[in-house]
Amino acid sequence: MAVKCIGLITAGSDAPGMNCLIRAVTRAAIYHGLKVKAVYRGFKGLYSGEIVEFHTQNVSNIIHMGGTILRTSPCKEFQTPEGREQAYKNMTEAGIDALVVIGGDGTMNGIKIFAQEFDIPCIGIPATIDNDIYGTDTTVGYDTALNTIIDAVDKIRDTATSHQRLFFVEVRGGSAAGFLALNGAIASGCEEAIIPQIEAKEDQVGLYVQNGFKKSKNSSIVLVAETEETGGALKYAERVKREYPGIDVRVSILRHLLRGGSPSAHDRIIACRMGAASIHALMEGQRNVMIGLNNDEIVYVPFSKVIKNVKPINQDLLDLLHNLSI
Ligand code: F6P
Repeated sequence: MAVKCIGLITAGSDAPGMNCLIRAVTRAAIYHGLKVKAVYRGFKGLYSGEIVEFHTQNVSNIIHMGGTILRTSPCKEFQTPEGREQAYKNMTEAGIDALVVIGGDGTMNGIKIFAQEFDIPCIGIPATIDNDIYGTDTTVGYDTALNTIIDAVDKIRDTATSHQRLFFVEVRGGSAAGFLALNGAIASGCEEAIIPQIEAKEDQVGLYVQNGFKKSKNSSIVLVAETEETGGALKYAERVKREYPGIDVRVSILRHLLRGGSPSAHDRIIACRMGAASIHALMEGQRNVMIGLNNDEIVYVPFSKVIKNVKPINQDLLDLLHNLSI
């Protein structure tokens, strides 16, 4: 049966470019003759029936805005069969016959279960600063967060150099994701990146930095992915303080700063492409797939593949970082 009315949801953590996606999905759907019902506060709004019809003007002047105008919220009810039943009831009462859901890996998992239980066409769009979703080269929000890291590290470098200090700068990264730390370190000329995908050797980090100072460097900046595996920047700073008392060490934690801001040109363009692709996918009869980008081509990745696989990190990038930071 042809889809007539889509429900549009942003769930999980917000990411720069989500508003761009909301605009693209809404406008592409209306362009192709579909109705759009916006669901507020993620799955919480589906559960509690916070559903409003969107027209083209509802998404005017949001392309440049960070966050999500639809808001987002955790929803413990959606984790229960009864809660999902209620969400399905609200959705059908609103006339919604397919869902487009924007979010990270947790969101893809939630929507996969919902689509299976109620046999409704669902399309996912990957939007997270962490870039930790299998099946797509990049996620909406990642490039903007990298640019925010560059901006922050450039500023930290001024003071690090003036005081000849070692800085551990902590960035977010999701459960096991070092994409922001590794590529952020390359892009901002850091000395090291500590990421969960690579077994971190604390002694080596200290030695490496000490050698760096001995050789010629005035300062040193190490990006640390904030995860249980790495233990975060404070842990490394304490260790260096204890074992290398000659080094003046400081910590800067960027955390939620990386989730805000106006989306970069790259994030806006991929958001426009992925948003429009979600509607094309539904019109082609696709269901239960995530929109991905593979070598700059739009691809449809089944939810089962997205959930089952872990996105690998390119180990060569770590060598590149080390080679260029001598
Ligand atoms: O996905 C973005 C992210 O910032 C992750 O890096 C982090 O694990 C998660 O969201 C935590 O979100 P919050 O602090 O808002 O609960």
